[in-house]
Amino acid sequence: LPRTIRQILISEKDTASKVHVHGWIKSVRRQKNVTFAVVNDGSCASGLQAVLSNSLDANFHGLTNGASVRMTGSLVTSPGAGQAHELKVDSLEIVGECNPDVYPIQKQTLTLEYLRDHAHLRPRTDANAAMLRLRNSLVKSLHAFFERQDFCYAHTPILTSSDCEGAGETFRVTPSSTPTPREAPTPECECTPLDPHTEFFSKPAYLTVSSQLHLEALASSMSRVYALSPCFRAERSQTNRHLAEFWMLEAEWAWTKEVDDVCGLVEACVKDALGAGRDERALLARGIAGQEERVKSLESAAASEPWPRMTYTEAISELEKYHTSTALRTRPFAFEPKWGHGLQSEHEKWLSEVLVKGPVFVTDYPSTLKPFYMRMNDDEKTVACFDLLVPFVGELVGGSLREERLEPLQQRMTSHGLDPAGEEYGWYVDLRRYGSAPHGGFGLGLERLVSWVSGIENVRECIAMPRWAKRMLL
Ligand code: 4AD
Ligand code: MG
Repeated sequence: LPRTIRQILISEKDTASKVHVHGWIKSVRRQKNVTFAVVNDGSCASGLQAVLSNSLDANFHGLTNGASVRMTGSLVTSPGAGQAHELKVDSLEIVGECNPDVYPIQKQTLTLEYLRDHAHLRPRTDANAAMLRLRNSLVKSLHAFFERQDFCYAHTPILTSSDCEGAGETFRVTPSSTPTPREAPTPECECTPLDPHTEFFSKPAYLTVSSQLHLEALASSMSRVYALSPCFRAERSQTNRHLAEFWMLEAEWAWTKEVDDVCGLVEACVKDALGAGRDERALLARGIAGQEERVKSLESAAASEPWPRMTYTEAISELEKYHTSTALRTRPFAFEPKWGHGLQSEHEKWLSEVLVKGPVFVTDYPSTLKPFYMRMNDDEKTVACFDLLVPFVGELVGGSLREERLEPLQQRMTSHGLDPAGEEYGWYVDLRRYGSAPHGGFGLGLERLVSWVSGIENVRECIAMPRWAKRMLL
């Protein structure tokens, strides 16, 4: 492979030897005798400034933003400010022209909505490319973390027969046409045409909303497992933190008995990720208002230890106190905080941004608000779970101890309208029959992590090709 611009910049320190550069033109500045062009191949934030003598080539008319080029030249110390090195170009080849009159990605600031409409060209903007590299760094940091903790990286199915979260947000999957056998039936291939009115799998199939239940089956043998998978939810909320397709890092491990321990692992893993992708984060910070405050808040989150933990009951009491405070002329929240009701995003933001001023674990929610698999606490009212709330984003992680006792699990399932002996969840209940062990885990939304560490406000800008209700462009 030819070297990337990042590799060239790392290894060629002013040797003046010939280098070959491949990339796309980001900007062109013509002067009387020379032309400056920034070329980037997506491997680094800055790209490389190329200096071309105007006598060099007749190809110059094709040297426009977006054109793909091959250049040969020598890397020399740059006399100008802004970059340590520049490329003194000997030869230039325009590989793919890009007509500046119609190219949709112009230099002026383009609105987020406009760029979402051009999702296939959006990765060409510096900000989107920086987000992609940052996402990559975060994923590598997460993998490295779990590797160090001796977790096994596992792949769980995307097609499922269950709705892990029980929120009724699954996408149903059906074949687009009647499947017919490709070949005539033989003894090895007993294919028969399927009736279009029956299910392909003989039962309804859905896209997964979470890998958790399958990870629990794996953790019952492998002890420590994790997955990084796409998840699909037919979300009704159209907010800056919800997508219909997002990626979730999920970990599940046996022999954990306290919610506090699960929170501890989440904290270590997220703190680790806060150190990743510093160049990209600096580049992204440049364009965003209020960055100083945000960067400070991230730095203090990375340094403070341990992140505060409060129960849901304590959180509600703090919210109620604030909401009914006589010092305030109007009630601050649109939704009144009340025990037994879910925390609204305005409540989550207040807890992390105002009360704690940093990440906070809220634990032990009422069992009525949470899915069937969470372990019931001794009070029989709350479950051993937590949400990690962070400033500017709200809920970043959700996790719990799982109900490992057979009878309490069967009871909870029945009260959630699920059949513990049925085909969909019978296998899950089985895990409690054969060598059940205390275990727990969590799920972290990757796009929300990207949003938090970068300051990018909407998760629609934290994934290459976002999907949400009524929007799937490519
Ligand atoms: O809180 P959630 O729904 O938890 C679960 O699915 C558990 N089964 C995970 C587990 O314990 N293994 O989702 C976990 C995280 C949320 O905290 C949030 O960060 C992210 O996934 N998330 C979304 N991100 C973007 N768009 C959506 N629609 C999301 N729904 C959840
Ligand atoms: Mg949640």
